[in-house]
Amino acid sequence: MQEKLEKIKQEALDSLESIKEKDALEKWHTIYLGRNSAVMEVFKSLGTLSKEEKPLVGKAANLVKVALEAASQAKEAILEAQQISESLSKEKIDITLPGRRAVRGRLHPTNQTLREIYRIFGDMGFQIYRSREVETDLMNFQLLNFPPHHPARDMQDTFFIRSEEDRGENPLLLRTHTSPGQIHAMREHTSKYQEDPPPVRIILPGMCYRYEQITSRSEVQFNQVEGLAVGKGITFQDLKGTLSNFARRMFGQAAKTRFRASHFPFTEPSAEMDVGCFLCGGKGCSVCKEAGWLEILGCGMVHPIVLENGGFDPELYSGFAFGMGPERITMMRHHIEDIRYFWTNDLRFLEQF
Ligand code: PHE
Repeated sequence: MQEKLEKIKQEALDSLESIKEKDALEKWHTIYLGRNSAVMEVFKSLGTLSKEEKPLVGKAANLVKVALEAASQAKEAILEAQQISESLSKEKIDITLPGRRAVRGRLHPTNQTLREIYRIFGDMGFQIYRSREVETDLMNFQLLNFPPHHPARDMQDTFFIRSEEDRGENPLLLRTHTSPGQIHAMREHTSKYQEDPPPVRIILPGMCYRYEQITSRSEVQFNQVEGLAVGKGITFQDLKGTLSNFARRMFGQAAKTRFRASHFPFTEPSAEMDVGCFLCGGKGCSVCKEAGWLEILGCGMVHPIVLENGGFDPELYSGFAFGMGPERITMMRHHIEDIRYFWTNDLRFLEQF
């Protein structure tokens, strides 16, 4: 039996020697290690052997099986290495072919509009001031002269950070507008001077949040760009001139503007600025809802209480402020009909800009 096993092994190894392809190796495996192979037959016949013979033959057969298995694996590794070196020498890389063009990202449409807004106000001497998105009730409402029961403080309009029970006196919230940045900026500025602080001219861009129904016209998150100018002798004329100039640069030299009286707690007087509808030229169409005008921003003269809260003496200083929504401006410029596109991250939308 031992001799027979030795013969089986030798024959298998000889046959393995001549194999040059993976297919042939597979066939070899079936013949010499498969269910009907000679080694397996030996295993099957163990039952017919005597008590003394059985363990000896069993062990010997097992050694043959293990040896053949190892030899086959070694062969497989050799064949694979050969294949790789062969294909490397055959398939040369043609370095003269043009490369594949890298996929390049681009700026989000809102960021494109934001950068344009920065550039225009930058030319007029405004600096960018970044302010936090998580605010306190004090900053977002109280110091901006919101009356205690103003609806914007409601659950309806504001995302609070903590649950109603442990919100406390001055709850943390996600800012509902960029206006609290006015207070931060003015305080930081005025605290640097004992008296007579120099003028401030800043814009404050950033994300704002409102707990609102999401529709084609309103989202729970959106950008705003706040503007603030404080100094001696600043008048409503300065506000109108600055914002009309902005509108002409943003929407074209022919852009018409108009100011309508409005109300905000933190400005007095307050106004809203409209731009003549770019689509119908003022005749009235579906975009401007037959009005001929599109609302662009809210603005006004900084309320004396707000100036004081910022550290400016309202007897000596005055200023104007405004706030606009870059998504809405982008919608107007590109005729985008649904504000939800901005945060859906659908490449089919984003790649158009
Ligand atoms: N904060 C106002 C809003 O969110 C906009 C605004 C800013 C109005 C500054 C006047 C002055 O609607």
